[in-house]
Parts: sequence; C-alpha cells; structure tokens
Amino acid sequence: MRQLSVKSHNGSYDVIIESGLLKNLSQYMDKDLFYVIIADDLIPSEYINHVKNACPQHFLILFPSGETSKSLSEFSRIIDILITQNIRKDACVVAVGGGVTGDLAGFVASVYLRGLPLIQIPTTLLAQIDSSVGGKVAINTKEAKNIIGSIYPPIKVLIDPNTLKTLDQRQLNAGMAEMIKYGMIADKAFFEKIKNEEVAADWDYYIFKSLEIKRRYVEADEFDNSIRQSLNFGHTIGHALESYYEYKKYLHGEAVAIGMVQILSNPVIKAELIECLKKYHLPTSDPVNFDELKKYINRDKKGRKDLLKIVDVTEIGSSVIVKSQFKI
Ligand SMILES: NC(=O)c1ccc[n+]([C@@H]2O[C@H](COP(=O)([O-])OP(=O)(O)OC[C@H]3O[C@@H](n4cnc5c(N)ncnc54)[C@H](O)[C@@H]3O)[C@@H](O)[C@H]2O)c1
Repeated sequence: MRQLSVKSHNGSYDVIIESGLLKNLSQYMDKDLFYVIIADDLIPSEYINHVKNACPQHFLILFPSGETSKSLSEFSRIIDILITQNIRKDACVVAVGGGVTGDLAGFVASVYLRGLPLIQIPTTLLAQIDSSVGGKVAINTKEAKNIIGSIYPPIKVLIDPNTLKTLDQRQLNAGMAEMIKYGMIADKAFFEKIKNEEVAADWDYYIFKSLEIKRRYVEADEFDNSIRQSLNFGHTIGHALESYYEYKKYLHGEAVAIGMVQILSNPVIKAELIECLKKYHLPTSDPVNFDELKKYINRDKKGRKDLLKIVDVTEIGSSVIVKSQFKI
C-alpha cells in the first residue's frame, strides 16, 4: 500500500493506492453515512457492486458513458434526481470511474446544497494519476471544455490499480499521455523509466510517482494562478482539438499527446517525446488546419484578456510558462 497526503484550502486529504483495495473497501467507508454513488453505464458492474457492498446506505445514479455527459443537461438531470430523492447535507458523493465521472460527479458535489463531501474512486489510469487528485471538477459546453467548474477537493481518494486489468488498451495508452507529461515537465529520470521500462509491471509505483509530481504543483498553487499551469503542458492545443472534433475523434490523453508535440519548440526534445508517445501507440499530429483551431485555442481558460499562456519544455524535466504567439 502506498499513501500520499495532499494539502488543500480546506485541510488535507489522503490518497491510498493499493492493489485489491476495492475488495476491502468497507474499511475506508463509514457504514452509518448515506452515500450517493455516481458512475457511468459502462464501468464494469463488479466495481459498482464492491462500492454498494461497502456502503450499506446508498443511492446509485448512472449516466451515459462519454465526454458528452460532462454537460449542463446531464448535470441538471443528476441534480433533479438528488432533489427528488431528498438527498440532504449529511450525504456523501462517491465518484466511481474515469475522469468524466470524477469531473461530473465532483461538480455536482461542489454545488448541490452548496457542497456535499466527495470521495473519488478512480478506475481509469488517467483518473488514477491525474483527474481524481487536485480538486478540479468541471463540465463542458459544446464549444469549450471544462469552462464551468470549480476547485473542490475530495475528502479521500481510493485507488485500486487492479481495476486497470479490465481497461481497454486505448484507454490505458491515453492515460499514459498524462504520465509522460509529468516526466516531461518535472522529472527526466521518470520520463526515461516510462520510455524504457514496463510500466504495467508495477502500476502502484507509477501511479504513486505521478501523483507525487502532481501534488507538488497542486499544493504550491491550488487555484491555478501560476505554477500549476505547468500541468497544462499539451492541453491548450489538446483541449482545442477535443472541442473542434466535438469530443468524438480523440480521447483526452490522445489529444494531449498531439498537443504536447505541437507546442514543443525544441526539435531534439520533440523527437524524444515522439519516440516515447509511439511506444504507447499515441498520436503525435493531426491534419487540421491550425487557423481552424484558433477559435478554440482562444477560449482556453488559461487565457487572460488578450494574452494566452502556454507551457513549453526547455529540457526534459523542466518547463516554462510563456506568453503565446496566438492573439485573440
Ligand atoms: N479534473 C482534472 O484535473 C482532470 C485532469 C485530466 C483529465 N480530466 C478529464 O478526464 C476526462 C477523461 O477521463 P478518462 O480518460 O478516465 O475517460 P472516461 O471517464 O470517459 O472513462 C473511459 C471509459 O472507461 C470506462 N471504464 C472506467 N474504468 C474502467 C475499468 N477499470 N475497466 C473498464 N472500463 C472502465 C468508463 O466506463 C468509460 O466508458 C476528460 O473529461 C478530461 O477532461 C480531468
């Protein structure tokens, strides 16, 4: 078992990483508490059953799998269910699944009755190494990703790397894009390990190491005004690609992979990154005309007035935030 504690504006929370955790989940839950379990309809039912068994008092809400559920309409549908079920302040929301579930259920938890406690149980690689930690929760509009959201830290994050055994290879690879990002911006030795070693042989380590890197940025700048923006490496173009293709062509990590390659200024580093991305069968370019993407790029949340900030990697393991050449 590996454990991390993450400091946030309302205290600190534990992240537990343990293979087999889901089978012993009851030790982490309070049997006297009422839990609203939120999951998408494609997550393997055995995981939902483990959570239901560990939470004797619960209500389960399922929503359609996929990025398009991070929408105002799905958000509103879930809020209506909570009202109809008379869910009160003493309930706790449990998000079980990938980043879509964590973001949507987390956003619901952040605003329903001005906030219910939130437990994240991430089951995709991307959610385990990234979206479940740091408190960002959000939904999209048709034209802009994560444009409506808040910073709402969970009270606990419970990670069972065994769930990765049922995840399909494309999803696993998409998660690897975010892990590669951590190496690129913060830790050359980690990047080399990802590039040269067998990550699946020791998920616990790679998940822990990724979250240790993420924690540094989140604790230093929880509200994303300065250094945390480094985690956005590859995301400005990545988010624009996702929006441009209406969330249909690329998984989030795939779009980030292309975004990292396209934003890098140094050709030597770019070649190393491409080699690593190819190991995980990730895309590195897209035929879209750049002018077409600009509209979406300019909606990036990191933009301030007429200025867009982007993240570049000056040497592997070290990043800078620079003013972009794209103008609104
Ligand atoms: N909040 C943040 O800080 C943050 C960070 C990075 C990404 N994100 C968001 O995360 C989202 C992407 O998340 P994702 O890649 O996890 O996709 P996802 O949540 O759509 O999950 C992918 C699919 O995998 C299925 N699934 C989940 N766990 C499984 C398992 N163990 N076995 C088999 N199938 C399983 C789900 O049912 C779903 O169909 C994007 O919306 C992105 O914006 C948020």
